[in-house]
Amino acid sequence: MYGAVTFYSEFREIPPPGTLVVWCSGPSCRIVGGGSIKAVLEAEFGCRLGENAPGDAYGLWLGQCNGTCERAPQVWVNGRVIGPLTVAEAVRLARRVKAGAQVVPPPAAPDADLPIAPWRGAAEQRS
Ligand code: FES
Repeated sequence: MYGAVTFYSEFREIPPPGTLVVWCSGPSCRIVGGGSIKAVLEAEFGCRLGENAPGDAYGLWLGQCNGTCERAPQVWVNGRVIGPLTVAEAVRLARRVKAGAQVVPPPAAPDADLPIAPWRGAAEQRS
C-alpha cells in the first residue's frame, strides 16, 4: 500500500495546500538551473520539497516533466506552468505566494463561444 501511495502522484499522504507549487524535477529543468529554483523556494517557504508550510496555506511538491520543457526551469502553481524562471523571479513568486497574492488567474468559466474542436480553424468549424 505504501509503495502505491508514494509512487503515484494522484495519491498523497498530506492534505493539498491552499496554493500548491510543484517543482519540476525533469531533466530539462534540472539542466537549466532547476536545482537553484528548488533551493530558493525551500528557503523562502521554510519547508522542504514534498511538504506544506505550517497551516497548509502553501506547499512545495515534486513534479515530473509535463512536456513543456521549452519553459524550463519551471514550477506549476495550482496547475499553471510558470517559467522559464530565474532565481530572482522564483524568490518574487515565493514571496507573493507567502503573502497570499493570487499568482495565477482562477480557471476560466466555461465559454459558450469556444469551438468544439479547438484544433480546427473557425471556418472549418462552421462549415
Ligand atoms: S523537464 Fe521540466 S517540463 Fe520537461
